[in-house]
Amino acid sequence: MSDPATPGPRNIDYSESMNVGRVHESVKREKDIRQPGNEPVSLGVYLLLAPLLLLAGGYFGLYRDGGQSPKVPAFDASLLPEPGGAIDPVKEGKKLYSSVGCAACHQPNGQGQPGIYPPLVDSEWVKGSDKRMAMIIHSGLIGPVTVKGNVYTGAMPAQGPLLNPKKLAYIMSFIRSEWGGGASLVTPEQAQLVYEEFKDRKEQWTIAELEAAVPADEMLPKVGGEEAAPAPDATAPAAAN
Ligand code: HEC
Repeated sequence: MSDPATPGPRNIDYSESMNVGRVHESVKREKDIRQPGNEPVSLGVYLLLAPLLLLAGGYFGLYRDGGQSPKVPAFDASLLPEPGGAIDPVKEGKKLYSSVGCAACHQPNGQGQPGIYPPLVDSEWVKGSDKRMAMIIHSGLIGPVTVKGNVYTGAMPAQGPLLNPKKLAYIMSFIRSEWGGGASLVTPEQAQLVYEEFKDRKEQWTIAELEAAVPADEMLPKVGGEEAAPAPDATAPAAAN
């Protein structure tokens, strides 16, 4: 080996008098010498800190709004799609029928209360025109109405403001399929048409007015329905219903 001071054939940088390789060797060696205060952080410290950081992150995520914010409307879990499948309008409607308040008057079994609340089960207003039925629910009904041979003279408040087109469609689909002898389902798009047409209506319907406005056989135009009958998806696991 040549002397570091004399340029030798192994010196890469010919203008230098030092052997660059050797100089680097000593630098590499000395880097390994640990000075106090210069030691790498031990793995144990990382392991201790990790759960703390996780907890802190979770805490921040949960409480950054100062807890539950009252401004956020209540999350309606009943409207979540079924995992791995499309929404079943009849199932959703059944939940809404109780949660929205129809059941309080028309009873959970849809039989109503004699002399006060007319039944929905087998009612001619449920089995007939979906448009008339939607109009009754949307804007309410007042005065005499004959249901299955009995006359009711109460008043039903407008339910439209408590619902939205989707909820109205689901509730109607549930009532019509369960209690209307399998009458046609209603899509959110169809319910939307009723909301648009009667958005300015503030009064409840009377039966006379309703019959004058819409013939008994007038049905809502067929719109929407992708949600009710989704295209089969080969990649999705079959929904367990
Ligand atoms: C506060 C009580 C009350 C609530 C809540 C209520 N209804 Fe009614 N509903 C009535 C009454 C009373 C009548 C009959 C009104 C009349 O005599 O003109 C009626 C009539 C009806 C009719 C037509 C008659 C029949 O029996 O078929 C339908 C359809 C109907 N309601 C559906 C609903 C649906 C759906 C909801 C929930 C979105 C609902 N109602 C919420 C009291 C109520």
